[in-house]
Amino acid sequence: MSMGTSKAVLHVLSGAVPQFLSSDLCSSNSDLVFYSKCLVKSVKKKGPKYLRSLKCSGMSGSQIGSYGCKCLGGGLYRNTTIDRLKLLSCKCQQAESVSGVDTGRENEAWFVDNANKLNLNGSIPEFEDVEKLKREDEASISNDKAGTGKSTFAAASVDSFEEEAWELLQASMVYYCGSPVGTIAANDPTNSNVLNYDQVFIRDFIPSGIAFLLKGEYDIVRNFILHTLQLQSWEKTMDCHSPGQGLMPASFKVRTVPLDGDDLATEEVLDPDFGEAAIGRVAPVDSGLWWIILLRAYGKCSGDLSVQERVDVQTGIKMILRLCLADGFDMFPTLLVTDGSCMIDRRMGIHGHPLEIQALFYSALLCAREMLTPEDGSADLLRALNNRLVALSFHIREYYWIDMRKLNEIYRYKTEEYSYDAVNKFNIYPDQISPWLVEWMPNKGGYLIGNLQPAHMDFRFFSLGNMWAVASGLATTAQSHAILDLIEAKWTDLVAEMPFKICYPALEGQEWQIITGCDPKNTPWSYHNGGSWPTLLWQLTVACMKMNRPEIAAKAVSVAEKRLSRDKWPEYYDTKKARFIGKQSHLFQTWSIAGYLVAKLLLADPDAAKILTTEEDSELVNAFSCMISANPRRKRGPKSSKQTYIV
Ligand code: GLC
Repeated sequence: MSMGTSKAVLHVLSGAVPQFLSSDLCSSNSDLVFYSKCLVKSVKKKGPKYLRSLKCSGMSGSQIGSYGCKCLGGGLYRNTTIDRLKLLSCKCQQAESVSGVDTGRENEAWFVDNANKLNLNGSIPEFEDVEKLKREDEASISNDKAGTGKSTFAAASVDSFEEEAWELLQASMVYYCGSPVGTIAANDPTNSNVLNYDQVFIRDFIPSGIAFLLKGEYDIVRNFILHTLQLQSWEKTMDCHSPGQGLMPASFKVRTVPLDGDDLATEEVLDPDFGEAAIGRVAPVDSGLWWIILLRAYGKCSGDLSVQERVDVQTGIKMILRLCLADGFDMFPTLLVTDGSCMIDRRMGIHGHPLEIQALFYSALLCAREMLTPEDGSADLLRALNNRLVALSFHIREYYWIDMRKLNEIYRYKTEEYSYDAVNKFNIYPDQISPWLVEWMPNKGGYLIGNLQPAHMDFRFFSLGNMWAVASGLATTAQSHAILDLIEAKWTDLVAEMPFKICYPALEGQEWQIITGCDPKNTPWSYHNGGSWPTLLWQLTVACMKMNRPEIAAKAVSVAEKRLSRDKWPEYYDTKKARFIGKQSHLFQTWSIAGYLVAKLLLADPDAAKILTTEEDSELVNAFSCMISANPRRKRGPKSSKQTYIV
């Protein structure tokens, strides 16, 4: 038993901890893990609470890979179309504790109304129900509007897309012990190859969560935040190796399993996947970063700061930060990750320091900085965070930025410079500049490249990274406008018939063979390799709102509206111009639906984007300019590189 564990047992025995999730025990990582484990068994075993906690302290992580609640309904709940009302009789210790903070339920009526309409009673509706409702809605809309002009019809159909999207989003809600805790990745009744699309993905839930927040429905987001927090500290192993503590799962599933030793009862368990079951066994580095971003958005939107102030939530934030800020072998302030650690969760040549992770990292650092409550012992963490923010933004703005001027500079680079003041620090050989880029780079505009390694610049345009660099302020104001200028200039490549291309251009031929490992799902202009993903609409819209250029987002939304509903909300589109529904695209993909809704909501209320955007404060701006003047591109020596900035 570790020190942390024995300390925890003592606390539990002395009754010092009245309720899980609000415990002082969570002040250290090992304590937190232990406490989560206790919960698992405490719902399974009968007997006095403290004894139960003690008993489970000997369990290993692999024995209890999920946590659950006991349901008293007998073996009725194995079907996905379970009657969720019955589940309300669950004795759900987690749900009670998680719902400990009451934020008011003024918007519940909206859900109840819609649930009644679909006769949901909290259950996942059958596809036919949704389709029937859609047809009824369409019929009633066309009846209502009969005889009116064309523009009214267009407005009516746009409204009906939104209505349909809300209904589908609602139907995608996943319940745990009667409470909504997330949304399923895809609700596609035509696809028998579900894979893990029946799970709640952390990154996929973000647009759902934002849509719910903007609609005033806070409970599901709060539940999601608190339940995923419990999963964070789970010990999951792959071939005897556990990922770093603080890692958030890629996804989780609510499973209904028979209760040990009780034939009549079942329990629901939350079963996380940290990548140990995911295709390719990729680590979801983005999950924790998104979790922090959503947590801040929740507080800003609902006004309920009590969630982010909770001790366990503060510990969760710190665990993610410690994992990201840990010293390693790296020379760069960017976060070093393996391939497929973000939205592109397959091999695509994005190992090292991919832009998307850096933009989310920067954003999460700023959000965490805003939420961390000052306390003894956190000064070092805050200092490390501030130093990293400054170094990271300098590094990205300086070395990832590319436009005509910079491209010409690289074209004329000298190589093999051994010195502190090298201009070509990463020893980039100008021959790397691909012919496509020479043609493609517009005179007005620029972007942040996909990745930077020694002697390697990945010049591909990655959309999410660029959009989130704008949203988070990682890109400077001038760079942010230039990114939007480039999107406008390259509209036919990046949007064409469906927004938005995940990256541009596609890897082809030998490059595709070597970099993707001949991945048949990532063939040129398909899926992650130059496919078009409707969900990216929401990040585009946030970036446009931040820069006060809503017309770009509005144009993209109107392109999407032409096809999304008609095509049954696909996950992605294929071909250079996004003309086909993706080869293996799931339909009724929740984040396509939610992404559209968030874009619409933000277009209607641009100010609401502030729950997601961040700005540098004056302290950081000062530290940044201090860094630039102390460390101009051509003046770098061993002394100045040692300097730290305490902001
Ligand atoms: C695919 C996507 C990933 C997403 C998952 C569920 O694996 O690449 O980003 O989270 O599907 O939709």
